[in-house]
Amino acid sequence: MARSLVAANWKMNGSLAGNRALVGGVLAGVRDLSCEVVLCVPHPYLAQVGGLLEGGRIGLGGQDVSAHEAGAYTGEVSAGMLCDVGCSHVVVGHSERRKYHGESDALVLAKVRRALDAGLVPILCVGESREQRESGATDRVVLAQVESVFGGLADVAARKVVVAYEPIWAIGTGLAATPEMAQDVHGTIRRALETRLGQDAADVPLLYGGSVNADNAASLFAMKDIDGALVGGASLDAEGFVSICAANAAR
Ligand code: PGA
Repeated sequence: MARSLVAANWKMNGSLAGNRALVGGVLAGVRDLSCEVVLCVPHPYLAQVGGLLEGGRIGLGGQDVSAHEAGAYTGEVSAGMLCDVGCSHVVVGHSERRKYHGESDALVLAKVRRALDAGLVPILCVGESREQRESGATDRVVLAQVESVFGGLADVAARKVVVAYEPIWAIGTGLAATPEMAQDVHGTIRRALETRLGQDAADVPLLYGGSVNADNAASLFAMKDIDGALVGGASLDAEGFVSICAANAAR
């Protein structure tokens, strides 16, 4: 069975005071749970949240990383900097970055490579739009996104990537994919990874993202190839997020 992981994606939310309360609640709630938990927070808060998490069992993650190593790239944050402030993970290729910042598959691959080179675990986001699903293009779109990254990595590096399937129509809408719909796509991704990695594909954590909450988490995690979740809105509430982690630990 693949490693489980529940990753919070705070997106552009937070404040020094609010983060303190939220992280405190999450730390207390997941203390006795066995699942891996990572908080992906806005860059300005990485140091603060890293400090709050110190000595605990929750990991720290960024939400984006530069494709460049260092230098004259105003506003960008390098993989080395993320490591420097204590990150273990970074979200790469989130649909909001692909949409609002024009990130292409080639750029996403470059970012994944940078993350891996620095020792970070990239959480690679893939997913189809509503139009693509309705026109029957889901598998083709998702596989193209997966293969454009895995095709560009050496085997050793490819084994370290976490994949998050996030149908765009399910993100922030309250309309999560049904467990069966999500499993269908996760199964497709797993088979593609088997072609690439053989038996080791079974160890790649496949997360589902898109309106995961305390009520639907357990039924999603009951699916064979859904190892964990990337949680947006529901990660901003300690109690709800802890419930999702508990459902994952019980899987
Ligand atoms: P959501 O976001 O849980 O608010 O739908 C998930 C994501 O975009 O990672």
